[in-house]
Amino acid sequence: MQKRTLKSGIELSELGLGCMSLGTDYQHAEGIIERALDNGITYFDTADVYDKGVNEEIVGKALKKYQNRDDIVIGTKVGNHRQEDGSTFWDPSKDYIKSEVKESLRRLGLDHLDLYQLHGGTIDDPLDETISAFDELKQEGIIRAYGISSIRPNVIDYYLKHSDIETLMSQFNLIDNRPESLMEDVNQKDVKVLARGPVFKGLLTSNSNQALDDKFADGIFDYSYQELGETIASIKEVESNLTALTFNYLLNQKPMGSIIVGASSPEQVDENVKNFERAKEISRDMVKAARNRVKDEEYTNHLR
Ligand SMILES: NC(=O)c1ccc[n+]([C@@H]2O[C@H](COP(=O)([O-])OP(=O)(O)OC[C@H]3O[C@@H](n4cnc5c(N)ncnc54)[C@H](OP(=O)(O)O)[C@@H]3O)[C@@H](O)[C@H]2O)c1
Repeated sequence: MQKRTLKSGIELSELGLGCMSLGTDYQHAEGIIERALDNGITYFDTADVYDKGVNEEIVGKALKKYQNRDDIVIGTKVGNHRQEDGSTFWDPSKDYIKSEVKESLRRLGLDHLDLYQLHGGTIDDPLDETISAFDELKQEGIIRAYGISSIRPNVIDYYLKHSDIETLMSQFNLIDNRPESLMEDVNQKDVKVLARGPVFKGLLTSNSNQALDDKFADGIFDYSYQELGETIASIKEVESNLTALTFNYLLNQKPMGSIIVGASSPEQVDENVKNFERAKEISRDMVKAARNRVKDEEYTNHLR
């Protein structure tokens, strides 16, 4: 599996494993992580908030035996402050970020983090305070690099201009093509994109009909359920392998860093990696034709 390199030199496998849907059964989750490693995936995305910290513990435990490998990279996230009753509130304060990083390190069983990301945020946050928290963690050697996970153009723009972020995580796939409008600015700043939701919860897989019924009964964006079904059918006329198509589309976005695909079984990992290899055989013309059959989506909120 080829790698893409961040400004700090960190190398991410072009396909990464999104760990959010691993579940809390350790054996099951470990099986998925092992299958990802067997397939050459070396980048793992988690967050302090997934399964109330259990996800970080599982990822840390499963990868512990490979601690002598320096190619394995873990990214986690911060900002959703968990209270004793399990509820969370948004907290981008320096105090919280600098204390919560220690909790993530403990749960992951690490002494430093490769990539630490702000897990959202608004333009009303104390943005410079948040940025200085990440800068200090970097100077102190606690994190190697930082980034943000956001779908808010105004927030993304501020971080691109005023911080040293190395990554931007955003939902990105053939249907949710909103991030296209950001690519030029992101690329100019040498920031790499981490595309989450690349198979859109299964909609862009061989299981698309089921995913459409189970997860998109109310449609999405300006698509009704029916329109979405018709659009998927229309894309399939161009290329029946929807995952390979969306992976090719993403790989060819200039600042692409890693496609972060989730999986709930080892078999899904196998299928996704197989389709990742197939993606390289798909022509630009086919991707263009498929892209012409979907709507141009745009961010409508948080523009200023
Ligand atoms: N704000 C944030 O920072 C944020 C938000 C969301 C996600 N993320 C990260 O991004 C990762 C990916 O996001 P995501 O899980 O929303 O999107 P995704 O990768 O598009 O969808 C993953 C889901 O799609 C289904 N799937 C995957 N491969 C499949 C296959 N080969 N065949 C059939 N179905 C398949 C599975 O659904 P079933 O479980 O139903 O089988 C799986 O749980 C997450 O794991 C997480 O690490 C970050």
